[in-house]
Amino acid sequence: MTELKNDLFLRACLRQDVERTPVWMMRQAGRYLPEYRATRAKAGGFLDLCRSPELCSEVTLQPIDILGADAAILFSDILVVPEAMGMKLTFGVGEGPKFPDPVTCRADVEKLPVLTDPSDGLGYVLDAVATIRRDLNGRVPLIGFAGSPWTLATYMVEGGGSKNFSKVKAMMFNEPETMHLLLGKLADSVAAYLNGQIAHGAQAVQIFDTWGGILTTRDYGEFSLAYMQRIVGQLTREHEGRRVPVILYTKGGMGWLEAIADTGCDVVGLDWSIDIDQAKARIGDRVALQGNMDPTMLYAKPGRIREEVRDILARFGHGNGHVFNLGHGITPDVPKEHAIEFFRAVREESVRYHQAAS
Ligand code: CP3
Repeated sequence: MTELKNDLFLRACLRQDVERTPVWMMRQAGRYLPEYRATRAKAGGFLDLCRSPELCSEVTLQPIDILGADAAILFSDILVVPEAMGMKLTFGVGEGPKFPDPVTCRADVEKLPVLTDPSDGLGYVLDAVATIRRDLNGRVPLIGFAGSPWTLATYMVEGGGSKNFSKVKAMMFNEPETMHLLLGKLADSVAAYLNGQIAHGAQAVQIFDTWGGILTTRDYGEFSLAYMQRIVGQLTREHEGRRVPVILYTKGGMGWLEAIADTGCDVVGLDWSIDIDQAKARIGDRVALQGNMDPTMLYAKPGRIREEVRDILARFGHGNGHVFNLGHGITPDVPKEHAIEFFRAVREESVRYHQAAS
């Protein structure tokens, strides 16, 4: 196995010493990069791109070359899991994802298989993981990912994105057993899928719970967190002689940081609604923190972006366990130069917080 040339990200995830704060960005391979748009055009469409290991690798490496990101993230989508369970999935141009035949009742849920073997249906993603590892050649670690069961269920029941989540909420309230059956199948499928990614070379994994924040505290515990916990309990935690850090990110979940840290994850992903010093005071002695610049700050002038980076670094202060990131994904209309400045600012401004104590 090739030695990692830059393992700052993995060290920060485990709260070990680093020379500067590592940085990567959710959705770092994406439409704000003309290079990404060119590769997607070459592939045909978004799902064609996801299905080509060579082109996935190409777009995964673009932000490493262009931004100097300290970690690569597998190029894929969270919705390939329900697709592999048999649901038709489409991504129209300029539209979000659609499941034209959504899950509507208990019988629909009963029909869905548990994907115990990800090489069956998701083999192309595992091939992409192996191809990316080969092409990275040890430059930076590779992050694998999946959606949380609750977040996947929202798309499967709503049939796509949603404003008020009426269908998935109605199912949760009216037929809690049906919802639990669905979430259990998703949790076990996602756990096997993430273990497949780890076996093929993912060196850390992140679970995206984009829609956990729409739940009450009680429902979050019962319908989202419990199933992320069930996944964490099944994951391979060591591979290639190193710990494989697990990152849990719940957008809108900043009220529940202690409960998230209690799952046994290594890193808690923060959205931008909390000041990172507050998050650090609450859980920073137990887990590393990832985040948390407001993604819309990337619309500001480069000088203002740098000021914000400085403020977040100062709030975290000295000490280990910070992976710099945005609080959610970068949006497609951000100027590429602003993203480059964000990465440069973190690299330059963070050094002072990691000098040996004198
Ligand atoms: O971060 C990365 O660079 C890795 C790739 C990645 C994608 N999707 C590629 C993508 C990751 C980690 C995801 C996760 C994902 N997908 C989430 C959770 C994270 C989050 O952003 O909250 C969710 C909810 C999805 C589902 C999804 N995929 C939606 C709602 C959309 C449409 C909205 C949008 O941004 O266009 C997608 C499409 C998608 N996934 C694109 C990319 C690069 C854009 C597709 C295109 O190229 O046209």
